[in-house]
Amino acid sequence: MEISWQILQSLEKKYGDSFYILDLRKFENNYQEFLTSFREIYSNSNIGYSYKTNYTPKLCQSVNFMGGYAEVVSQMEYDLAIRIGVHPSKIIFNGPFKLKEDIENAIVAGSIVNLDSSHEVSIVENLAQRLPDEHKISVGLRCNFDVGASNTSRFGFDVEGGELNHAFNTLNQLNNCAVEGIHCHFSTPKRSVESYALRAKKMLELSKFYFQERQPRFIDLGGGFFGKMSEDLRKQFDWPIPSYQEYAQAIAPQFKNQFSQGVGPELILEPGVAIVADVMKFVTKIAGVKTVRSRQLALATGSIQNVKPTLNDKNLLMRIYKNDDFNREKLVGQLDIVGYTCMEHDCLYKGYQGEIGVGDYIVFDNVGAYTTVFKPPFIRSSPPIISYDSAVNEYELIKRRESLEDMFATYVM
Ligand SMILES: Cc1ncc(COP(=O)(O)O)c(C=O)c1O
Repeated sequence: MEISWQILQSLEKKYGDSFYILDLRKFENNYQEFLTSFREIYSNSNIGYSYKTNYTPKLCQSVNFMGGYAEVVSQMEYDLAIRIGVHPSKIIFNGPFKLKEDIENAIVAGSIVNLDSSHEVSIVENLAQRLPDEHKISVGLRCNFDVGASNTSRFGFDVEGGELNHAFNTLNQLNNCAVEGIHCHFSTPKRSVESYALRAKKMLELSKFYFQERQPRFIDLGGGFFGKMSEDLRKQFDWPIPSYQEYAQAIAPQFKNQFSQGVGPELILEPGVAIVADVMKFVTKIAGVKTVRSRQLALATGSIQNVKPTLNDKNLLMRIYKNDDFNREKLVGQLDIVGYTCMEHDCLYKGYQGEIGVGDYIVFDNVGAYTTVFKPPFIRSSPPIISYDSAVNEYELIKRRESLEDMFATYVM
């Protein structure tokens, strides 16, 4: 993507002083590369794209077009999938909180519903008993086991404590309900290949134990993989950042070996970060500069909420596009780029060394995951998203800037 100060200025004139740029083709390339890494080893692999990571409809539509599942964790996300044309059978409904009617509707519609607790098992039991015996339904179960993380995960059925066993037994006793698959998802800070090798091993053992000669329809290993990173960002981690291929090598051969006779179950992966993080940039402008005692501050038209609303302490990769007005107010040396909110912690970049002046544009990279979905309308409305098509070098608005009416439409005035 060719960017210059002049290009950013012309985009600002059209779309305002801060905006996201989404590279849809890059997303599609990531998706295909991730999937191919697994399919080359174990052909019955597929992706369930994690909607919550970034549910920009254009992205979700492209997943549907490429044959992937919509991985949703709320009725809102489920409804979005249906609204953009996803067939119910291509929706995976996960998450710890699902209403009774949401579970029932999704199961009856033929979606994959991965149950998370015994409360949800009771809902399914009740549904199965109300349906005639010839109306067959199926569900998946989320498994929770030790993957060496410092925290005990709160999701799914405890494998060691017997909860998973109990859920299987309860559901298998029903005439018209089958457990058709097993699911897990863990977020561990290091996202290491070893941890994925362990998840695959554990899930394959569970599959053997619970399904015996009949194999499950799917084994879903969840998401949590690292995505692609520039060298600068990699350096900020004290551990290796695996590639798609390294993850695939840790997982897929185990499936290939266990199911060497014929077609094995569908191996589902649920990447969010891994395929979407590097496909969005955030553009913001420097509106003013000042110095408070020895602290130099450049005020941006964006906020920390636009680039890292989950508040991590890393500096994202960014580039500065300088306004060539020689007389602009500027700072030189060590400085912080701070945001428009009234919060002290609102610092988009700490300790930048160099020159920044009023009218410069700052472009942050790697802001495709957990940004637009997390940012509340705090103090300023959410910025627009512009999609960039590298094939024709064109920009198109795919989410307009929020207006006062949008933000306050749900309040009574
Ligand atoms: C069930 C499930 N699947 C997939 C994901 C996606 O994780 P990530 O964006 O880290 O790949 C999440 C994230 O929390 C999740 O809870």
